[in-house]
Amino acid sequence: MKIKSIRLEQVAGFMSQYPKDRLDEIAFVGRSNVGKSSFINSFLGRKSLAKTSSKPGKTRTINFYNINEKFRLVDLPGYGFAKVSKKEKEKWARLINEYLSTRENLKEIFLLVDIRHQPTDLDKQMYDYIIESGFTGFVIATKYDKIGKSKLHNNLKIIQDKLQIEDEGLIFAYSSETKHNKDVLWEQVQVILDN
Ligand code: GTP
Ligand code: MG
Repeated sequence: MKIKSIRLEQVAGFMSQYPKDRLDEIAFVGRSNVGKSSFINSFLGRKSLAKTSSKPGKTRTINFYNINEKFRLVDLPGYGFAKVSKKEKEKWARLINEYLSTRENLKEIFLLVDIRHQPTDLDKQMYDYIIESGFTGFVIATKYDKIGKSKLHNNLKIIQDKLQIEDEGLIFAYSSETKHNKDVLWEQVQVILDN
């Protein structure tokens, strides 16, 4: 796909702030610090479009990135960040769940997990939710540059087993540093949008 335009179209803390048209949206969910915002930057080839941080809890709103005025990539807050108050956690969970459960524009959800670690119970809950909601169940295993290639197969297997992913072809190792699998994922996004 040729990218002609990218813009941060909307930052939403409430449902009433979502864009009000019917453009397809693809959302990226996962634990705080897993690399959602970094994924969006590297995928779009824009270094600091989405704000990232080495500390968890950077993205606190739903950020809608409009591509070519044709579709959106949606960056969500992360879950599972222990060091915030219960109230704050509940607020982020509400934001995420409200978007995922009500948004008619939502065409596909990608779950991001860290390739170095076994997914958490919260990741499993999210993956189950994605499948039960009728989405395909794509998983992006981030930070691939942080492990040796010899570990790839084994780490992907751990992720597949924990999340009970039926088809290993649904999991993509990714690195926002090396952009490994960027082209493959763009092909997948194109297929999603064409469907
Ligand atoms: P929240 O907004 O807090 O939910 O986090 P996030 O999932 O958006 O993570 P973010 O993109 O802010 O990245 C968190 C940290 O991981 C940053 O320091 C990034 O530079 C780093 N990071 C993300 N992806 C990669 C990757 O593929 N490789 C490496 N080496 N670091 C990465
Ligand atoms: Mg973020």
